[in-house]
Amino acid sequence: MDSFKNQMNRRSALMAMGTSALGLAAMRLPLYADNSAESMRKVLPKFSEKSRELLRRRVGEREFSGQISTSDADQLGRNENIDVDRLMLELIALAETYSRAPISNFHVGVVVRGTSGALYLGANIEIPGQCLGFAVHAEQAALSNAYMHDEQGVAALAVGGAPCGHCRQFINEMSPDGGILILMPGKGPVKLSSILPDAFGPAALGMKHGAFPVRRNELALGGTSASPLAVAALEAARKSYAPYSKSPAGVALQSTSGRVYRGSYIENVAFNPSLSPLQIALAAMIVAGEGYANISGATLVEAQSANISQRAVTETVLAAIAPNAKLQVVSAAA
Ligand code: THU
Ligand code: ZN
Repeated sequence: MDSFKNQMNRRSALMAMGTSALGLAAMRLPLYADNSAESMRKVLPKFSEKSRELLRRRVGEREFSGQISTSDADQLGRNENIDVDRLMLELIALAETYSRAPISNFHVGVVVRGTSGALYLGANIEIPGQCLGFAVHAEQAALSNAYMHDEQGVAALAVGGAPCGHCRQFINEMSPDGGILILMPGKGPVKLSSILPDAFGPAALGMKHGAFPVRRNELALGGTSASPLAVAALEAARKSYAPYSKSPAGVALQSTSGRVYRGSYIENVAFNPSLSPLQIALAAMIVAGEGYANISGATLVEAQSANISQRAVTETVLAAIAPNAKLQVVSAAA
């Protein structure tokens, strides 16, 4: 496979470098751990100092959520004298710094462009000690990031090598007409439909549309005194995309930093590529620059009448990464 050449080069460079402290500082420390001008220069060596400073300021902001605004994207494109597709390809290296892949050590970064023009970063996540099925691919992380920001649709996805089959299937749910452009280094843009012919899409199960635009389900908590975390999880559950199981669910993670990260359940017509609400909340937390150790509590909201439950998977994954965080499960009425 000629894909992931960038990542492989980086990986071989890492291996050659060994695990010396110097090597780690130069190549592996994610930006959230070392947001220095020096690291940014290593991640984006071709960029001007002006652009690197803009990005460094943004990723260091308290509210950074892995989103690069349309105006920042325009500014970066002007600074570097490149179009937005090229900018997205350049920013893959930045997205990749958020990768958490302790099992494969294969670090993947993706940049998605929403129809609003904003850009979204995502990186792959592997859960230590757990089955590989809990991994989140970088494409899924970046697309779920656009989803959590209420994009109306997705226009393009930039990745270092051709997306795997599982991702093509997941991307198809976000762009069921196959029109989303896949951007890869050294190639012109290609439509998803050209790399996923004969797609098994939402229509196979009778759906007329895919995950975008983000829609709200009717869901409400009983009682009057829901905690702020339960309210955040309810909000996430309300915007989940669960047309196949009809079982909306949302997770909110409380961080010791004071921030709350939400994840809305996103289903796939082929079922297995679906992302649980916890996986999406974790992707949000990681791309914001925080680590699992900061999770102090979690709430899962599910519909009372649901056909399926996210409870077991949420408990399992949470216990693996934040064993001291207490999980509260709340049911909501549809
Ligand atoms: N990976 C991606 O993130 N995207 C792809 O399309 C290919 C594979 C990740 C998943 C896993 O964390 C690692 O790369 C090895 O497969
Ligand atoms: Zn994939």
